[in-house]
Amino acid sequence: MDKRLPKRTHPHTELIEAAVSARKNAYCPYSRYSVGAAVLTEDGELFTGCNIENASYGLSLCAERVAVFNAMSRKRVRLAAVCVAARLSTPCGACRQVLAEFAAPELELYLVDINLRNGQRRVRHVTLKELLPIPFDPLQAGLIKL
Ligand code: THU
Repeated sequence: MDKRLPKRTHPHTELIEAAVSARKNAYCPYSRYSVGAAVLTEDGELFTGCNIENASYGLSLCAERVAVFNAMSRKRVRLAAVCVAARLSTPCGACRQVLAEFAAPELELYLVDINLRNGQRRVRHVTLKELLPIPFDPLQAGLIKL
C-alpha cells in the first residue's frame, strides 16, 4: 500500500468513537446492558449520553435520550447524525420518536454492534425515516405552526 496516500477514515469516526466511549459510563446495575450514544448537531458539535437506570425500573433513561437532551439543554439546534453503541444496537421506539422531534427524516444513524468477546464492531447505517416511517408529527397534528 502506498503510505503517502491519506488514510481513509469514516466521515463519522469521531461520532462513533464518542458513542463507544460514552457506553463505558452506563449506569445499568439492573439490566447490565450498557449503551452509549453520541449526537452531532447541524452546527458540528458532539454531545454524548449513556443509559442511566433506576431501582424504580421505569425511571431509567436510554442512552439516546440522555444524549439528545444533553444537546438540547445546551443549544436549540437540529441533529445531523446519531450513533448508538451496544452489544446489539438499535434505538427503542420511544427514542425514535424523540429523535423525530429534533431531526429531519433524513437523519443519519450509525448503529454499532460490539462483540463483547473480542471487541469487534459492526456498523450499520440507517436513516430515521427507515426506523420510524410514520412518526407522530406535531406540525401535521396542528400542535405547532411554522
Ligand atoms: N437501552 C438504551 O439505552 N437504548 C435503547 O435504544 C434500548 C435500551 C437501555 C435501557 C436499559 O437501561 C437497558 O438498555 C436494557 O433495556
